[in-house]
Amino acid sequence: MNPVIDLLKNHTSIRLFNEQPVTDEEEQAILACVLRGASAGNMMQYTIIPIRNKETLAKLAESCDDQPFIAKAGLALLFVADNYKWKRFFESRGVTDHGAPYRGPEIPDLMLAIQDAMIAAQNSVIAAESLGLGTCYIGDIMEQAEYHRELFHLPSYTMPVTLVVMGHFDSKPQLRSRFDTQYVVSREVYPSVDETFINGMFQKEESKQENFAQKFYSRKIEADFFKEMIRSVNVYLAQWLK
Ligand SMILES: Cc1cc2nc3c(=O)[nH]c(=O)nc-3n(C[C@H](O)[C@H](O)[C@H](O)COP(=O)(O)O)c2cc1C
Repeated sequence: MNPVIDLLKNHTSIRLFNEQPVTDEEEQAILACVLRGASAGNMMQYTIIPIRNKETLAKLAESCDDQPFIAKAGLALLFVADNYKWKRFFESRGVTDHGAPYRGPEIPDLMLAIQDAMIAAQNSVIAAESLGLGTCYIGDIMEQAEYHRELFHLPSYTMPVTLVVMGHFDSKPQLRSRFDTQYVVSREVYPSVDETFINGMFQKEESKQENFAQKFYSRKIEADFFKEMIRSVNVYLAQWLK
């Protein structure tokens, strides 16, 4: 058995941490793996903010759509997509763009930074799990732009992409189900997504819960947290859209 494949095939998010601390050695090992992740042009357009301060974790538990388990994490890693440092570098060195002044980061720069940050984040999850820690992504870190900017001193052209909370745990929940491979893997070209495809893709969920589509939509997309996420992400994006 390949231990990495075994680890990846048994992933579950953990939302119940025990009191056993995450050691400095564990943190260092995780960060070393994070930094080895691929990044576009090897520019490493992210900043990682490790958070252990209990007050800060408690603040995040509230500001990230009231998720109390965040406060119990032994360690949280905030992954910030970051075009600011390279912008500062280009400005400091007086680069020009076809002779015209440097224009600053554009949307593709942000998209690459987001990809860099997520690759780094997933490396942290894999590394942490390999050390026996449990992890959970917190997407709600994209909410409350003004509050999180101030809390973490975030400059312009940066955006929190994800928060990975981690800690030791006592028991592991059952693996959550996934869509069947045929609905997410399509060889060579995009699949023909007709009604039969959609019916098959959601058959499991719809057989378990009546009116699954509306209930899911109301719980996720129509919810207040999602409205706040839309507002907050637009606040960040405005900088790149100029
Ligand atoms: C981008 C992203 C954002 C997420 N945000 C949250 C979150 O805010 N709170 C939470 O409890 N789980 C969050 N999760 C975890 C997912 O709910 C979880 O991965 C999914 O339900 C599948 O469960 P599993 O990871 O246990 O297999 C997030 C996962 C991802 C990838």
